[in-house]
Amino acid sequence: WTATRDKNCKLPMPKGSMGFPIIGETCHWLVQGAVFHASRRQKYGNVFKTHLLGRPVIRVTGAENVRKVLMGEHTLVSVDWPQSTSTLLGPNSLANSIGDIHRKKRKIFAKVFSHESLENYLPKIQQVIQETLRVWSSNPKPINVYRESQHMSFQMAVRVLLGFRISDEEMHFLFHTFQEFVDNVFSLPIDLPFSGYRKGIRARDTLQKVIEKAIREKPLCIQGKDYSDALDVLLESAKENGTELSMQELKESTIELIFAAFATTASASTSLIMQLLRHPAVLEKMREELRNCGLLHDGCLCQGELRLDTICNLKYLDCVIKEVLRLYAPVSGGYRTAMQTFELDGVQIPKGWSVMYSIRDTHDTSAVFKDVAAFDPDRFSAERSEDREGRFHYLPFGGGVRSCLGKQLATLFLKLLAVELAGGSRFELATRTFPRLISVPVVHPTDGLRVKFFGLD
Ligand code: HEM
Repeated sequence: WTATRDKNCKLPMPKGSMGFPIIGETCHWLVQGAVFHASRRQKYGNVFKTHLLGRPVIRVTGAENVRKVLMGEHTLVSVDWPQSTSTLLGPNSLANSIGDIHRKKRKIFAKVFSHESLENYLPKIQQVIQETLRVWSSNPKPINVYRESQHMSFQMAVRVLLGFRISDEEMHFLFHTFQEFVDNVFSLPIDLPFSGYRKGIRARDTLQKVIEKAIREKPLCIQGKDYSDALDVLLESAKENGTELSMQELKESTIELIFAAFATTASASTSLIMQLLRHPAVLEKMREELRNCGLLHDGCLCQGELRLDTICNLKYLDCVIKEVLRLYAPVSGGYRTAMQTFELDGVQIPKGWSVMYSIRDTHDTSAVFKDVAAFDPDRFSAERSEDREGRFHYLPFGGGVRSCLGKQLATLFLKLLAVELAGGSRFELATRTFPRLISVPVVHPTDGLRVKFFGLD
C-alpha cells in the first residue's frame, strides 16, 4: 500500500511533516524523544502525521481519540508493530497475533497472571528485591539505578516467571544478549552487517538457543495447584484449553514475557526511586501507612509472611504507584494499522495507515488532572480520584482487548519494591541535581540516576 489519502473520504488528512525519504523523522524522534511528539502536537494538533522507523504513521493523543482507537481493535484497527519489532518478537508472539488467535492466546496467558499465581510468585519476587537492595546497600559507591533495576527485573523474569535455574555466568550472558535484543527492537528494518536490525536478529537467535536448552533442562513442577512458575502455569493452561505449545511458541512466548517485563519494570522502578528522593514527605507518609497496619516496627519491616491482600489494602501505596505511572508512563504508546478509513478529531485516518496511540502525551495533556505536571499521589485517593472522570485519561497499561497482561504483576513488583524501600533502606541522590529524562525506548534518566544506598542503621 502507499501512504496516501482516501479519495472517497471528504475529510482532510491530518497535518504534519514526513521528513527525509526512507528515514523520515526517525532521527529527530530518537534524539528528541518526548519533545518530538509534544512539539508536533502543539504545531499540528492531537492527530498528526509523521514518518518513523521506515513508514508513515499517524500519532493520536487525547482520551477520546485514544478510546476510539483502542476500542476499535479488530474492527477499525489491528495491531501492527514496526517491522523490526514484529520480526524480532516472532509470528507466534501475542503482540503479533490478531483476532481469534489473539483471544485464544490471551485466555491461555490469563492464568499466568491470576490472583492465585501472583500469590505464589510473591515471596519469590520479594526475595529478588531484598537480595538486590542488600547488594546495592553493600556497595560503597553510588549505583546506577536504571542499569541495576534492569538486572533486578531481568532476575525477576528469568528466576520467578520462568523458573530457570542457570549459573551466574549464564545469567550474565543472557542479560547482555537480551539487552542487545531490546536495544534493537525499535530499529530501521535494514538488514546489513552492523545494522541495529541485524544485531537484534543475531541476539534473538542466540536467546532462542539458550532458552531452548534451559526449557529442555527445566524440571516441570506441576503438582496439583502448587505451580512453581509462570512457564509451568502456561503449559498447564494451554493443556486445559486443549492445546500443546510447540517449542517455537514457547521460545517466542518466553522472550516476549521477558521483553514486556524487562525495560518497563526497570523504568518504573527507577522513576519510583527518583520520586521518593524528590518527595521525602511522600516516603514518610508511606512509612506511616506501614506502621499503621503493623508492617513497620521501630524502623524495621516485620519479617512475617506478606500476603497479596495485605499489599492490596495499602491505599496510599496504591496512590503513589499510580502517580509514578501517570507522570512517568514507561511505555509511550502502541502501534496499530487502520483496517478501514475512519474519522478522528475531524480528520481522516485512511485505510492502511499506521496509527500510534499515545499514552504519555495523553496523560500530560489531560484536563482531568489538576496541576498535571505535579507529583501528587493523593489525586488518586478515594476522596479525589481524578481518574474517575473517564477511563482513557489514565492508561499506563493501555486499554481494550490488548491492555497489558502483566499489569497486576508489574504493580505488585513496584509495591513490594516501595515497601522494602520505605521499610528497610536509606538512600540519597549522589549527584548535585536530578538528571534529565529521555523517553526512548522507555522513560529513563540520562545518567541512569546515581544513588547511594546505605541500608539500615
Ligand atoms: C502490553 C505497559 C509490565 C506483559 C502492554 C501495553 C502497555 C503495557 C501499554 C499495551 C500495548 C499496546 O496497546 O499495544 C506495561 C507497563 C509495565 C508492564 C507500564 C510495567 C510498569 C508488564 C509485565 C508483563 C507484561 C511485567 C509480563 C511479564 C504484557 C503483554 C502485553 C503487554 C504480554 C501484550 C498484550 C496483548 O497484546 O494482548 N503493556 N507493561 N507487561 N504487556 Fe505490559
